[in-house]
Amino acid sequence: MADAKPGTGQTALVTGASGGIGLDLAECFARDGYDLVLTARSGDALAQAAERLARQHGVSATSIALDLGASGGGKRLAAQVAERGLTVDVLVNNAGYGHAGALTSSDLDTQLGMIDLNDRALVELTYLFWDGMLARKRGGVLNVASTASFQPGPLMAVYYASKAFVLSFSEALWEEARGTGVHVSCLCPGPTASKFRERAGTGKTRLAQVSTVMPSMDVAEQGYRGFAGNKRVVVTGARNAAIAWLAPLMPREMLLRMVRNIQSPAT
Ligand SMILES: NC(=O)c1ccc[n+]([C@@H]2O[C@H](COP(=O)([O-])OP(=O)(O)OC[C@H]3O[C@@H](n4cnc5c(N)ncnc54)[C@H](OP(=O)(O)O)[C@@H]3O)[C@@H](O)[C@H]2O)c1
Repeated sequence: MADAKPGTGQTALVTGASGGIGLDLAECFARDGYDLVLTARSGDALAQAAERLARQHGVSATSIALDLGASGGGKRLAAQVAERGLTVDVLVNNAGYGHAGALTSSDLDTQLGMIDLNDRALVELTYLFWDGMLARKRGGVLNVASTASFQPGPLMAVYYASKAFVLSFSEALWEEARGTGVHVSCLCPGPTASKFRERAGTGKTRLAQVSTVMPSMDVAEQGYRGFAGNKRVVVTGARNAAIAWLAPLMPREMLLRMVRNIQSPAT
C-alpha cells in the first residue's frame, strides 16, 4: 500500500496513558497509524482516550485499567494483552511519579512505590515483550526518564535515582538491540505541564519558580520522533539538553549543592 502510515499493522502499548505525556505519546503513535493499548489506573479517562484516539485516527484502541505499581502488575497487564490476542510491537514505559522532599518526609510506601512503578514495572514489561520484538526485528521500547536522570537529587533522592536507573537500563538495551531492527530510546523531559507536579509536590520548590514548563504534546512529539529515528537519548528543549550535558562534567559536590538548592522550598 503506497500510502500506508509507518505504524500500520503495529500496536503500541502506552503506560500512564490516562493523561499528561503518556496520552500525548499515544496520540503521536495513533497519528502514524499504530493501534493502541492504553493503560493506567483511571478506567474512565482511559476508555474516553481510547474512544477519541480510535475515532480521530482510524486505529483500534484498547484500554486496560490496572495498577502497574502493584506487585505483578506488569505480568497481569501482559496476560490481559495476550487474552485479547494482541501483539505489542512498541512498548512505551511512561507511567511514573515523583515525591519531593527529604527521604523521610513521606511514608516508606510512597518512596518504594516510585521504584515499583518507575523501575520495576518498566523492567518487567520490557522483559516480557523484548524477545517478541527481537524475533519480529521491528518495534521497540520508548522509556520515559527525566532530566533528573543525569545527577543525584538531594530532597527528591528516590525519584532522581529511579530515573537514573531508567536512563542506564535504556542505554544498555539500545546497545543490545544494535543491528536487530529494534529501537530503544530514552525520553528525558524537563518540567512539563501535566498532573506530575501536583502529585510530586514540586510546585513549591525553587526549581518550579525558575523553570520553563513545556507543553506535554511538545515533549511527546520530540520523544516520538526520537524513537522513530532510534535516537538513544532524547532530552527535550535546548536548555534542558545543555544542563544534562553539563551536569556530569561539574565537580560532584558543587552539583549536589546546586540540586539541593533548587529542590529546596522557595521562600
Ligand atoms: N511532568 C514533568 O515535569 C515530568 C518531567 C520529567 C519526567 N516526567 C515523567 O514523565 C512520565 C509521565 O508523567 P506526566 O508528567 O505525564 O505525569 P502525570 O500527568 O501524573 O501522568 C502519569 C501517568 O501515569 C499513570 N500512573 C500513575 N501511577 C500509576 C500506577 N500505579 N499504575 C499505572 N499507571 C499509573 C497516571 O494515571 P493514573 O493516575 O490514572 O493511574 C498517568 O496516566 C513520568 O514517568 C514522569 O516521571 C515528567
